[in-house]
Amino acid sequence: MATNATIETLLNRRSIRKFKDEPIDDDATATLETVAQHAASSQFLNDWSAIRVSDPAIKARLAEIGNQPYIATAPLLYVFVIDEHRNAHIAQRKGIDPTSDEFHLKYSYRFTQAQNDAVLALHAMETAAYSLGLGGVILGSLLNDIPALIDLLNLPEYTYPVLGLALGKPDQEPTLKPRMPRSMQFFDNTYPADDDGMLEQLPDFDNKVHQYYDLRQTDRPVDAFSDQIASVSRQGVSGKTLLDKAAAQGFQLDK
Ligand SMILES: Cc1cc2nc3c(=O)[nH]c(=O)nc-3n(C[C@H](O)[C@H](O)[C@H](O)COP(=O)(O)O)c2cc1C
Repeated sequence: MATNATIETLLNRRSIRKFKDEPIDDDATATLETVAQHAASSQFLNDWSAIRVSDPAIKARLAEIGNQPYIATAPLLYVFVIDEHRNAHIAQRKGIDPTSDEFHLKYSYRFTQAQNDAVLALHAMETAAYSLGLGGVILGSLLNDIPALIDLLNLPEYTYPVLGLALGKPDQEPTLKPRMPRSMQFFDNTYPADDDGMLEQLPDFDNKVHQYYDLRQTDRPVDAFSDQIASVSRQGVSGKTLLDKAAAQGFQLDK
């Protein structure tokens, strides 16, 4: 495989959940935020924002919502959000009424477009952080209680939380988590018709995953990939519906 510093950074990335109690300096923070802004943005809508959380009380509440204590210990913590609020105001200044049907930034296509942009920006920031010797973890757990999160961060109409990102100087060295064989995830031209063929290398991958130890639970290896998928496929997600919560923020995702 070809290699260079960027590829090394990407291939050595692993989630870091324990941070040294050292602040991230302003230069590094500015660099990371500028990098995030340089990610691609569909139609150049710039339809995301990020809340930089430094207030210990808000961090503590986020850790509660995410049910993950390390969230509160992150020296640098962001919540990335879909943001059509800013664009609503910009459009309003040009004579568009954001409450009217003429305002299309509240519809599903724009919502997913903004979500994509937010994720790309977050990922650029994550990669840049690793390239500076920092580490971090993406936080889907903040979405455990979206209304509480919206309330805590004062997220206004036409905004919606996407993901958190906790960053800091690593205070742990987890081993790299195995990835599935490339042939299971990259297909030529069309999706393969032969499901069994696609899963031919699954037993080998199951074994590799089962040999991995998660630092959050070091007393036993993690379950084989197949067992993880079976278990998650049975996990209830009924409280995690989108349409109602997005509607409360002004979005109309049925359109
Ligand atoms: C969208 C997304 C949400 C995630 N949410 C969490 C989270 O809430 N808490 C956590 O500890 N890890 C979270 N992770 C990290 C994944 O568990 C991790 O990336 C995966 O297990 C692979 O491990 P690695 O990052 O060490 O390679 C999240 C990752 C992604 C992409």
